[in-house]
Amino acid sequence: MNLAELTQATLARISGAPNLEALEAVRVEVLGRKGTLAGLTKDFGKLTPEERAAVGKDLNAAKQTLETAFDEHKAGFDAAALALKLDAEWLDLTIPAGGQRPGSLHPLTQIQREIEQLFTSLGFAVLDGPEVESEYHNFDALNIPADHPARDMQDTFWLEGGFCLRTHTSPVQVRGMKLLKPPFKMIAPGRVFRNEEVDASHEHTFYQLEGMMVDKDVSVANLIYFMKTLLSGIFGREVTVRLRPGYFPFVEPGFELDIQCLLCGGTGCAVCKQSGWVELLPCGLVHPNVLRLGGIDPEEWNGFAFGLGMTRLVMMRYGIEDIRQLQGGDLRFLKQF
Ligand code: FA5
Repeated sequence: MNLAELTQATLARISGAPNLEALEAVRVEVLGRKGTLAGLTKDFGKLTPEERAAVGKDLNAAKQTLETAFDEHKAGFDAAALALKLDAEWLDLTIPAGGQRPGSLHPLTQIQREIEQLFTSLGFAVLDGPEVESEYHNFDALNIPADHPARDMQDTFWLEGGFCLRTHTSPVQVRGMKLLKPPFKMIAPGRVFRNEEVDASHEHTFYQLEGMMVDKDVSVANLIYFMKTLLSGIFGREVTVRLRPGYFPFVEPGFELDIQCLLCGGTGCAVCKQSGWVELLPCGLVHPNVLRLGGIDPEEWNGFAFGLGMTRLVMMRYGIEDIRQLQGGDLRFLKQF
């Protein structure tokens, strides 16, 4: 095989090499120290200096051509190998880091803190009361006599010795009146219990937030102002509400403040029991008997009180369709908040 034929054949083998190893094998075979090209120089000694110069020039040119072809082809393999490597080592910096994720507060706690912040900024104190409550605080001191049908309105979990699981946060009104001297403003968030049939909007264990203001000449207008401030603070917008008379022995007059159901927009669903309205914020002016039992002279002072259904408020704010999801303990659900 002459030099031209060797060059052509080698160029073809270079471009046909399927991988780096095959290419290297061709290089060693042709361009190596003991390769085919070197073999062509073994008869160099027999040539005249002129012939040697001419053949040497051709050999160098062939070597150059082959080396260039070899380098180019190798560069192609190197680029492909690099691309493969980079692809394998690809790192998405937007993926959150693994390991322990920070926890978050239960939506009820979040709303409770927001309401506490709102009311403390308006000068309200935040009070706590026991979940195991005396019958006196839960009922008697709230103007609910022993034989009064109002005791049946809130199905009670009775304990021994005249105690019960509090059915509402209203007993903290009684404790507040004893603790704080008028004028005062207070709220009391907390867990309450009722022996109730559980459904989409009723739990046996749920959260309320009591509010009470005692001062001179407190009016229904004051009450409505604070209720509106509370709702627009929580929802960040105007929500449709309706006020209707409501009976609670501890207020006179008493109202039910309902919110238009935010889940169905008022057209009717399981949460609002197809009525379009959700009972959220019963309220009224504190009954004189309650003030008296709390050691406050109703001739001198009066006040308002409200009992916000905090669990229902959370449902309205986040569009939660079933109250049971909030206490089901399913972290997949809770992690959304
Ligand atoms: C009371 O508990 C009164 N103590 C409220 C009150 C306080 C009135 C001060 C006047 C002055 P009621 O039983 O309606 O009222 O409950 C208050 C709110 O708690 C309801 O509007 C509702 O939003 C919520 N609620 C009542 N029962 C349940 C339940 N089973 N599951 C979830 N939320 C409930």
